[in-house]
Amino acid sequence: MFNIQQYLKEQRQVVEDGLQRYMLQEQGNFSAHIQSMRYSLFVGGKRVRPILCLAAGRAVSASLDVEEQLLPAACALECLHTYSLIHDDLPAMDNDDLRRGQPTCHKKFGEAEAILAGDGLLTYAFSLLSHPEIPGPATATRLQLIHVLAQAAGSQGMVGGQYLDITNEEKDIPFDLLKTIHRSKTGALITAAVHIGGLAAQADKKQLQALINYGDAVGLAFQIVDDLLDVTASTEQLGKTAGTDAQQGKATYPAFFGLDKTRALAQEAVHSAQEALASFDERAEPLRALAQYIFNRTC
Ligand code: IPE
Ligand code: IPE
Ligand code: MG
Ligand code: MG
Ligand code: MG
Repeated sequence: MFNIQQYLKEQRQVVEDGLQRYMLQEQGNFSAHIQSMRYSLFVGGKRVRPILCLAAGRAVSASLDVEEQLLPAACALECLHTYSLIHDDLPAMDNDDLRRGQPTCHKKFGEAEAILAGDGLLTYAFSLLSHPEIPGPATATRLQLIHVLAQAAGSQGMVGGQYLDITNEEKDIPFDLLKTIHRSKTGALITAAVHIGGLAAQADKKQLQALINYGDAVGLAFQIVDDLLDVTASTEQLGKTAGTDAQQGKATYPAFFGLDKTRALAQEAVHSAQEALASFDERAEPLRALAQYIFNRTC
């Protein structure tokens, strides 16, 4: 039986080591700015996206040298994700004071500084992918990774989803739009994580499509569960303020369907993620278990 808790513990350590190795150091003229970036990056976090990325690479290729081919890209995903959290918490966005169990970046360093910390992390993600002295796949593959991440992060992905999230507060929206918001603001980056893992491992077309289908389903499940936890979990448990979605009139699955149906839809998405991996062998067991973890998680 695959031990997901043990696996998560080990993989989190791999990601922490990678982030420590590849993240900018607090030195020189920009040390205070870099301090604010590092604060949000190292303050905690489940590291789900980099772990999915590494798991996707290993599912495709047993011989993949993860450290040399994929770890910096996994770290880039976490930098980009952390930027999205810093900006998501800003007063003009969700206006949250707590993140990863600590004061949000703007509470700790000020609003302008937090905007810039986010900008710095976003940009650094692409620097990590393209830096000739940082390990990674061959140039042609790196270019694909950069494109996949840019598409997922941008106006037809995370940023576009955040726009729709913010501009549809307190509105009655159709289910299609709710799903689009969730798929784009959160699903896109999660899909990119497994897509990047597959590309770095030189997956063939069929394998890549399977990974993308897995990512789409698991990414949707991830945000549905995030919505659920906002209703059912405590602030202490989450490390971020609970109950804010309803206060802000956010478009969420629980608001649309109620808790029971929402849970069923999340589990359904997890099953379709697992089904998408039908053609993979036991090397995809971590990806299958990660999908179920995304449903079961308590924070
Ligand atoms: C929170 O992401 C924001 C969403 C996209 C739902 P995570 O739940 O992965 O947050 P961390 O990285 O563990 O803090
Ligand atoms: C955020 O969704 C998605 C992002 C792109 C960061 P939420 O606004 O629900 O995330 P939390 O609940 O604040 O982590
Ligand atoms: Mg938000
Ligand atoms: Mg938020
Ligand atoms: Mg949320």
